[in-house]
Parts: sequence; C-alpha cells; structure tokens
Amino acid sequence: MGDQDFVKSSEAQIAVHWQEEDKFYPSASFIAQANMTDAEIYKRFGLENFPECYKEYADLLTWDKYWHTTLDTSDAPSWKWFVGGKINASFNCIDRHLPLHKNKAAIIWVPEPEDEPHVVITFQELYVRVNEYASLLQDFVGLKTGDRVTIHMPMVPELPITMLACARLGVIHSVVFGGFSGKACGERIADSGSRVLITMDGYYRNGKLLDHQEKTKLAVDAAEENGQKVDKVLVWKRYRDQNSSEVAMVKDRDFYVNDLLPEYTGKRVAPVPMPAEAPLFLMYTSGTTGNPKGCQHSTGGYLAYAAGTSKFVQDIHPEDVYWCMADIGWITGHSYIVYGPLVLAATSVMYEGVPGFPDPGRAWRIAEQLDVNIFHTAPTTVRMLRKAGPDEPQKYNYHFKHMTTVGEPIEPEVWKWYYNVVGKGEAVIVDTYWQTETGGFLCSTMPALQAMKPGSAGPGVPGIHPVIYDEDENEVEAGSGIAGNICIRNPWPGAFQTIWGDRERYVKTYYEKYNKDPKSKDWRDWPYFTGDAAVLAEDGYFRILGRVDDVINVAGHRLGTKELESACLVVPEIAEAAVVPVADEIKGKVPDIYVALKPGIKPSKKIEEAIISEIETSIGKIARPKHVYIVPDMPKTRSGKIMRRVLASISNRGDIGDVTTLANPEIVDNILKMVQGN
Ligand code: WT7
Repeated sequence: MGDQDFVKSSEAQIAVHWQEEDKFYPSASFIAQANMTDAEIYKRFGLENFPECYKEYADLLTWDKYWHTTLDTSDAPSWKWFVGGKINASFNCIDRHLPLHKNKAAIIWVPEPEDEPHVVITFQELYVRVNEYASLLQDFVGLKTGDRVTIHMPMVPELPITMLACARLGVIHSVVFGGFSGKACGERIADSGSRVLITMDGYYRNGKLLDHQEKTKLAVDAAEENGQKVDKVLVWKRYRDQNSSEVAMVKDRDFYVNDLLPEYTGKRVAPVPMPAEAPLFLMYTSGTTGNPKGCQHSTGGYLAYAAGTSKFVQDIHPEDVYWCMADIGWITGHSYIVYGPLVLAATSVMYEGVPGFPDPGRAWRIAEQLDVNIFHTAPTTVRMLRKAGPDEPQKYNYHFKHMTTVGEPIEPEVWKWYYNVVGKGEAVIVDTYWQTETGGFLCSTMPALQAMKPGSAGPGVPGIHPVIYDEDENEVEAGSGIAGNICIRNPWPGAFQTIWGDRERYVKTYYEKYNKDPKSKDWRDWPYFTGDAAVLAEDGYFRILGRVDDVINVAGHRLGTKELESACLVVPEIAEAAVVPVADEIKGKVPDIYVALKPGIKPSKKIEEAIISEIETSIGKIARPKHVYIVPDMPKTRSGKIMRRVLASISNRGDIGDVTTLANPEIVDNILKMVQGN
C-alpha cells in the first residue's frame, strides 16, 4: 500500500463517475410485508449503543450456552464477539427448524441440463444427509474439531451438505471456488494445513459435463510442493451409478463418498457446541502482494451477522423462495446461499450451471417454475443477461419482491434495466457493498426504509459506521464530491478475525494505515481499512469507485495483479510482466497483460498462448486476460519501476498524462500504436 505507482493506476482512477441519479421508492406492498420497517433501528444501532446493539442479531440464533460479553477487545484488532457463548452452526441451520419446518424445502437444486429433474431437499432430509456425512467424516476420515478441510466442489447440494457436516463437528471448512485450477486449490490446501480434500468427479457447465476430478492430482501435488501431504481425497459423484471422470482413483487415498455412505445410514452425530469465537471457516481472497489470504471467520459472530443481514436487508422470511445465483465458492454463497437463508429456515435455490444456458431465458424460467420471489446476483450477470436477452424476462410469469446486486458497481443504465425489466418495476433493489473479509454487508439501503439510488450502494447498514478518510487521515465531508478511502469506524460481528496463520499481515493490511496506537485496546482507535475508494453524497449514500490497491475486480471477484504477473513469469521467455485492469462491457474489469521478452527472443503467438495457459493453470479460467501484448520494453521511471498507470491508460484509451519524466518516454508511442493502432 502507499506505492504511488499503484495508487495512480488503481481502478478508482479509471472508474466512471456517474451523474447523480433520481431516487426510486419501495412499493407499499413491499413495505407491508417487510421484516424491518422500524426506522428506529438506526438509533438502536447507533455508535452510542455499540456494541450492545448486536444482541438483536445474536438473539436470532439458538445458543447452547448464552454469552456474557458482547465484544472483547483485549486482543485488538482481533475482535471477539459474544464471548462465553457456545453454539453450533449446523444445528442453527437445520435441527432447530425441524419442529416447524421439517417437511419444507431447505435446498432446491436445479441441474444445468433442463431435462434432469430438480432435487428438493427438505430440512428433514438435510438433517439426515448432514448427520450421515458428518458421521463418515468423523469415523472414516477421523476428522476432529479444529481440523481444516479443503472443499473443491461445484454448485451441487453435496457442497452445502459437506459444509454443514463439517460445521456440525466443529471442523473448519475451506471452500475453494470450483472454477479455480488444481494448483490454486493445492496452494490453499497447504496454507490451511488440510490433510483432507473433498471434491467431485464432474459437473455441467455450458452444456458440457466437465471432468473436475482431473484437478485433484494438480491440487495434491501443489499441496505437497508447499509442504502439506493430503492423506485422503473424498470424491462425490455427479451421477450415483456412473463415473463422470476418466481419472483413476489412487488406492488408499481416494474414496467415492457414495460407496462409503451406505455404512452410515441412520447414523446421527450430536452437534458440537463451539465457542462463539471458534473459527467456522476460511475463505481465501486475493491481496496486494503474496499469497491469497485465508480470511478466518468466526462461528457465533459470523452466523449472527449473516442472520441479521439476511433477515433485514435481504428481507428473507421462512416462506420465501430465495435464489442467489452466486457460487458457494465465494463469500456471497457462504453468507447468502448457505448460512443466512438456512439459519432463517428459508428455501435456498441452487443452480448448477451458467445463467444463460441454453438460452437467455433460463434464469427467468427457473424463477417462474419455482416461484422465486427474492433474487440475488452480480452486475456482471445482469449485464450479460441484458445483452443476450433484453426482452426475455417479460416472457415469464414470475414476480420478485426483492433483488440484490453485489460485488462491483452497477452502471445506472444497467440498474434501470434490472429494475424495470427483470424486477418488472415491482421489486426493491439493494446494492450491497461488502467483502470476503467482512462476512456480510457493509453498505446498502434498508429495503423498506430507504429510497434506492442507481449506482450508489447506500449508507452503512445498521451498526456499520463508514467514514471516508483522505491520505492524511482527515475525514472527507459528505457532499464534497471528493473521493477517498472508505473505512469502517467500528468492529461488527461478521468481520473476519485474522488472516489464517498471518496475524501480522492482517494488522498491516487492514488497520495499520489509520491506526494511531498499535497498543490500544479501544476499538475507536482501529478503523477498518477496506482498500476501496468511495465518494459520499450529501444524502449519506456511498458510491464505491473500486480498489485503491493493485487488485482487479473481475466479474465481481478480486484477482491480485501480483498473482497474475507471477504466473506470466513462469513462462521461460518472459522477462517482465505488468497486469492492468481494462474496462469490459460484461465483466466490469478484465486483466490486460503486458510482457517484455528476454533478450534475443522474438515475439510469437506461441508465447502469448503459453501465457494464457499458464494463467489458467495457476489461477483458473476466471483470470483469462483480454489481451496479451508483447512489448519491446516496459515504460519505466528513472528508478526502474514499471509505470502501470501508463499501461492502464493505454488499455482503457484514457489520458496518458505526462510521460516526459520516464526513463524511456519513446516506448509509450510504440505501445500506443500496438494497442490502439494509431
Ligand atoms: C470488493 C470485494 C462482497 C462479495 C463479493 C465480492 C467490490 C463489492 C460492491 C458494490 C461496488 C463492490 C469492492 C470490494 N465491491 N460490492 N456493491 N459496489 N463495488 O467479494 O471478492 O472480496 O471483493 O468488491 O471493491 O472491496 P470480494
């Protein structure tokens, strides 16, 4: 952080500055049924009532032992919430609903092939399957409370079943997005110290049954290279009686879950009462430098925050059919497909495949068939569906009361299509701003209490007190039109506890910049630094502009430019690599790659392909660059630093600014011609 070169080339700098927009108001019928219609909630969650206000969220849960201390700051800035309490997440998502809802759908799974039937799992069935699997994990695999397990699975019901089985035992799950490469998975296995990998043989994506198990070898090898042996690999099957992968099982290491499960039929495992502050899961996310960070989330605080925000911001009632089209491999899926909805006994819809398959009406067909009334997705998907089928939604008879966007700014034009066409003018929209680290929402309107403003997330949600600081730690005033660093003044129960195994990096990345006294135990001295730039309008609404560090938000997910650059450098011909975000019509941002070759090597298509393939192997297809440019040299400062800002401007056809102070200004024209062809 603080590297001027990066700060200047940040996404915030190239973000579009939208006009102020008119406001839209929730309908009377939405307000009439909403969970939170009491404007006093902002008072109750005011800083003067902090931290006790969060009792309101904790009381949405069932505690094995009630807690005595709301917030313990003795280990600042690793906050401990609801200390003294004992709780089990699996119990809260399943067992406690059985008396009233055992026969209600907990999960409805929609396979991608349209001729395959939906799978409906009631709370009773979820109870049985989670218990049997937990019993297997305990007895066959030997997992114990506090162990870590890496889960590399696609969007199938066995994924939440696996997570909830781990949670039942107090085993810490680390779900790695199924689209990530085996190598990326293996690095996360090693970092978390998992000796068990849970995976799947195959899954459908875009009409093809993909072989997912082929990533296992790469994952296990990468884990071992990084010092972690994997003893057991459990493989779920996409089809019970057929293999969806060509990969041979490794004897005494690999086991098909479906072969083992019959032995556990009828088994029950008592949910382990976990201390509120025990870790529930790890979720890896990219950072400025170095390896991905394992964000460690707590059990009690996280679950309380997921419950509270799901109830009041997502407006989830048990009778709702709620569909979040994210992937459970990201934090959105953890909080708002699995834990939030299930803790509230809602029906959570899961879809296996891509939203536009086999045609851009698919999503709306699913909504109609299941009578979904709450819909949740990312702007990138909204843009894609708008482009592919702008008139599709009106062909289907569904009615949303509530819609969410998450993960990146949404252009007002796209927002209006979402509102008018997808929502048919009937649904409220919440634009939810948050991060992997924050466990749940930071900024959003409260759907029945506030107007919506296209392009702006809104104020801090109840209990979150955001502030914009400039580089000198002065508060930037509302309505000034000046962008700065958005920080949160106070801790909250959903916040991650630390970076797994690297507390120093945790403190440095999120707190050092605005902390005045590293010894302080007073939370007021520890504003949380999000790493995002934002502007605060007169009306108290925040507009998020993007990252201030060298992180690229692709389709709503963070990729570290350093990770991409290191992947390029694996290709033997490459001497230097620079990655910059470039605006993309659908995905928001995608990486553009600039490389310079070692002396004597000629540019070739083969080298470009080698780079792309290396990026797909080390990170995954999600990181695929828009362009690879092989340049004769990088624009550099006299001290030899690559000027990513200049490259970003070239890629985005923006103003390049003054380059006369560069060590090699002539190269800029050369690259300009190559990229822009003029
Ligand atoms: C980064 C976090 C939160 C779950 C999905 C992404 C950006 C997030 C918004 C929004 C503008 C947003 C920020 C943030 N972001 N939500 N509503 N408007 N930008 O989680 O991968 O941890 O990424 O996404 O830059 O820091 P993530």
